[in-house]
Amino acid sequence: MKMLDIKNGPSNVSRIILGCMRMPALSVEEAAKMISTSRELGINFFDHATCYGDGEAETRFGDALPLTGIKREDIFLQSKCGLHFDTKEFNWSKEDILKSADGILSRLKIDYLDALLLHRPDLLYDPEEIAEAFDELYSAGKVKYFGVSNVTPMQLELLKKYVKQPLIFNQLQFSLDQSQLIDQALYLNNKTTDMSIDRDNGILDYCRLNDITIQAWSPLQIGMFKGCFVDHPDFPELNEVLSKLGQKYSVPKTAIAIAWILRHPAKMQAIAGTMNPQHLKDICDATKVDLTHNEWYELYLASGKFLP
Ligand SMILES: NC(=O)c1ccc[n+]([C@@H]2O[C@H](COP(=O)([O-])OP(=O)(O)OC[C@H]3O[C@@H](n4cnc5c(N)ncnc54)[C@H](OP(=O)(O)O)[C@@H]3O)[C@@H](O)[C@H]2O)c1
Repeated sequence: MKMLDIKNGPSNVSRIILGCMRMPALSVEEAAKMISTSRELGINFFDHATCYGDGEAETRFGDALPLTGIKREDIFLQSKCGLHFDTKEFNWSKEDILKSADGILSRLKIDYLDALLLHRPDLLYDPEEIAEAFDELYSAGKVKYFGVSNVTPMQLELLKKYVKQPLIFNQLQFSLDQSQLIDQALYLNNKTTDMSIDRDNGILDYCRLNDITIQAWSPLQIGMFKGCFVDHPDFPELNEVLSKLGQKYSVPKTAIAIAWILRHPAKMQAIAGTMNPQHLKDICDATKVDLTHNEWYELYLASGKFLP
């Protein structure tokens, strides 16, 4: 496993994170096996959110962790708050952040969270309220680090005006299929292709300038949640290159797809969502591969992108 020291944050965290969004589908015993397999593969970082299974993912993990014998302090537990699909609203109010944090701690059965992220912008957010909530959580020892998810540069600037703690993570969608985080840089000011559309106000460079580590979510998904592009019939050219490079480096195709994310000099983490131990092992083989500059471009172009 390749490890990372996070600027203004923890040291020695794994480049691959196990995302627990799909954990509600597992029994407690299966969840314990998934956590143990992760540790055996060198993963020490787990991602949650209050909305994953409406709290079920955190509950399953909290029930499973004691079965593994893994010490709480040996792993990095992160969760996100603010999404309420049940009441159809997003909420970053002080009251909701504090209530969510207590709920997370109780479901995970822990007394501190390593990182709390604001999941997706609440259209009614007030940065001063968020600052107060973070101060309370930090001084009570309930949360060590803070971050955001799906947040733009100007929203981060506004938050940073009031929030005292460094915002060290931004979770953003990034994969060979969903590469809009980088596409626009090639086609700025160009009317002939949608690749020129600036969809996030330059969040990639903003994060790099401000020492915010990007966590790439859904690294294997087609679109939002349309399935995995590896071995998918709609991606023949991409699968051909994944297969060729997989043979060259003696790793599975999924490892090459994840290695493509890890090769970016922004030093992102990739959040793998598989709940299959063998698939996770395949994915972790990504950390054995250092793609060449040319191989990185070959994969990008095979995913349907083109150079000006
Ligand atoms: N911040 C946000 O807004 C946001 C949004 C979405 C997700 N996330 C985070 O990102 C994590 C990952 O998201 P995701 O689950 O969509 O990511 P993903 O890793 O891109 O996709 C996982 C899916 O791919 C399948 N898969 C993996 N390897 C495969 C293989 N070799 N062959 C066939 N299928 C394979 C998995 O099935 P198997 O289980 O059968 O392997 C699973 O259904 C989540 O758990 C969550 O932590 C964050």
